Amino acid sequence: MPAEEPPRADDTSLPDIPLGVPTAARMYDEALGGKDHFQVDRDANARLYKIIGEDRVRSTALENRRFLGRAVRHLAHECGIRQFLDVGSGLPSARNTHQIAQEVDPAAKVVYVDIDPIVAAHGKALLSRDGTRIVTADMREPETILDDPQVRELIDFSRPVAVLFVAVFHFVTPAEDPARIVAAFRGRQAPGSYVTISHLTSDGVPPEDIAGWEAGFAGATSPIVFRTEKEIQALFDGYEMVEPGLVRPHTWHPDDDGAPRTTSLFGGVGRLPAR
Ligand SMILES: C[S@@+](CC[C@H](N)C(=O)[O-])C[C@H]1O[C@@H](n2cnc3c(N)ncnc32)[C@H](O)[C@@H]1O
Repeated sequence: MPAEEPPRADDTSLPDIPLGVPTAARMYDEALGGKDHFQVDRDANARLYKIIGEDRVRSTALENRRFLGRAVRHLAHECGIRQFLDVGSGLPSARNTHQIAQEVDPAAKVVYVDIDPIVAAHGKALLSRDGTRIVTADMREPETILDDPQVRELIDFSRPVAVLFVAVFHFVTPAEDPARIVAAFRGRQAPGSYVTISHLTSDGVPPEDIAGWEAGFAGATSPIVFRTEKEIQALFDGYEMVEPGLVRPHTWHPDDDGAPRTTSLFGGVGRLPAR
């Protein structure tokens, strides 16, 4: 049977999709060279490229995406993880978490969660497999994710699970308390579980560039928040860092995946020890 065609982003019959406002999911998709974005997203990125430089923005997005791939592979291959909760998963791209995890073990379970309904609209067609689900939810309300029937159906929290927050906490403001969000997930995780976080950093970034990113996202559904390495490290509280710790993502278990080298981000993986 031929695979069902995913809906196009231009399909205005899709429900609840903010069409007139740029969204992080669609801007990121554009920066990665994807096809699932609207004119408003392309315009927002064009403004960002003008201020920050197109190569810099695209390299940052790709460095992050490659880190996600290596982290999932490491978790599945080296750490034996078979359950993944990918929070702020973004639009399906070339190599998604379920494809990488299920290459290692076809029985691996993956639940994608994203606030943007276009992710589920595209994902439902692409992820029509037994071991994958896609949920539209807001990580700032972690209990709605942790208690979601689709999440509970696939993820057994009495066994180790990797929670991924890759390039998503920079859409959570200090007032929304990122530490509270991680703690809610950590509180449900079994010992031997993992967390993976990457985040835009203000360390070593000229203030005018930060202002440029902020201006680029000013009209989008979420503002963008930069954090220092120390603030990002604090999000791993309660976890033991997997070697090499919190680093520039292109240096985390590098391979020949062509990850660009930028100084825009930090990323790492933490393991929840026995309580
Ligand atoms: C830059 S993309 C990252 C996608 C993917 N994690 C990756 O690293 O390749 C950020 C994603 O986080 C989602 N997002 C932003 N705020 C969110 C929230 N409060 N809850 C859930 N998802 C959110 C956006 O819709 C977007 O798809």
